Amino acid sequence: MSLPKDNKDSIPEPVKGLEGIVAADTSLSSVNGEKGILRYCGYNIDDLAFNTTFEEIVCLLYDTELPNHERLENMTERIGEARVLPKEIQKVITELAGKTSPMSTLRTVVSALGHYENNVPLSELPPKALRLVGQIATAVAMIHRLREGLPLLEADPKRGHAEDFLRMLLGKEPSQTQIQALDLYLILLADHGFNASTFSARVTAGTLANLHSAITSAVGTLSGPLHGGANEKAMEMIIKVGKPGKASDYIENAFAKKQKIMGFGHRVYKVDDARKPHLKKMATQLWKERNDMTLYEVAEEIERQVKSRKPIITNVDFYSAPLLYGLEIPTDLFTPLFAMSRVAGWTAHVLEQYGNNRLIRPRARYVGPIDRTFRPIEQR
Ligand code: CMC
Repeated sequence: MSLPKDNKDSIPEPVKGLEGIVAADTSLSSVNGEKGILRYCGYNIDDLAFNTTFEEIVCLLYDTELPNHERLENMTERIGEARVLPKEIQKVITELAGKTSPMSTLRTVVSALGHYENNVPLSELPPKALRLVGQIATAVAMIHRLREGLPLLEADPKRGHAEDFLRMLLGKEPSQTQIQALDLYLILLADHGFNASTFSARVTAGTLANLHSAITSAVGTLSGPLHGGANEKAMEMIIKVGKPGKASDYIENAFAKKQKIMGFGHRVYKVDDARKPHLKKMATQLWKERNDMTLYEVAEEIERQVKSRKPIITNVDFYSAPLLYGLEIPTDLFTPLFAMSRVAGWTAHVLEQYGNNRLIRPRARYVGPIDRTFRPIEQR
């Protein structure tokens, strides 16, 4: 590209998509893309996956230490209390539910929740941040029930987060396997380095805008199909394929049209996503209990077909899809559920950003024309 001389001389070549750029230090999570390792505060996700609860992970991200019994009890209570939403928020959800996508409603709800919070100094911010972790879950359940015309169920602060959410969403007592599956999902997606939505939360926080502005930015960023929106699209593909025997033609055709296959590829992982084996294992168990493995087998066949054509990794969103569908969650709630987990990481990152802030302000290289002759509007 030929550039205006003054720009070409003074501004370095941009790195498209900021690939490989290290934008800050964090103590929250690390991703080793070469080996497929994800750690939260130094703990390998393989050790945390089936041995903790979401509430323990929230403690870990907020305190950078795993909790003892007392701290965990306190955390569980506080998240539970936060699941009781301000009454006014119900009006916002009633107004929007069913008229726009659940993710758009959620973005508006997060923004609206900011109206019911006071400005507090940084030392008092963690309880306010934590409230969002509880509130988002109830908001997602309410969005669904209100749009379906179903009666609302009050939050039960004494229950675990995964259990209470499933009860409020589905209107019945979830099984132990369902609770375990959702808890696993929430654990595995809670944080992931400088993914796009976390980065956007930190950019907003970096201007010293408030917490709710930062999390609203994050929800909007997560919604796109190249990020959190991929889980919903992956499930739509699995449903569309419908039978394992149809996967080969579908994938052949998608590659011929140079389409991206949702749930595959990653900026950082060079081997399969660290979270994939756990999600796959749990999804298998859920589908076995349903006595009809068809759609799960379609997912496995799609993975085989993709990998037989291109050396491309399976990312977190691919097996999240059959896991969430196996939990009877409607596909358009998949990305809101991603937000329900990632809000733990987002809020922890915002606290980390405020604690050691510097405005995040990169530059752009101007590539348009320069020294143009101005003409008044009458002459244009
Ligand atoms: N299907 C087919 N080809 C792919 C895919 C895919 N899903 N992903 C990457 N490729 C190919 C791409 O066509 C390109 O090939 P070539 O070099 O021959 O042109 C190469 O791999 C590099 O792809 P890229 O798009 O330049 O990679 P990126 O790092 O900019 O994008 C990505 C990463 C995740 C956006 C991309 O892999 C993608 O669009 N995947 C599908 C959407 C998806 O599953 N998103 C979830 C991401 S992980 C969890 C999350 O963040 O929520």
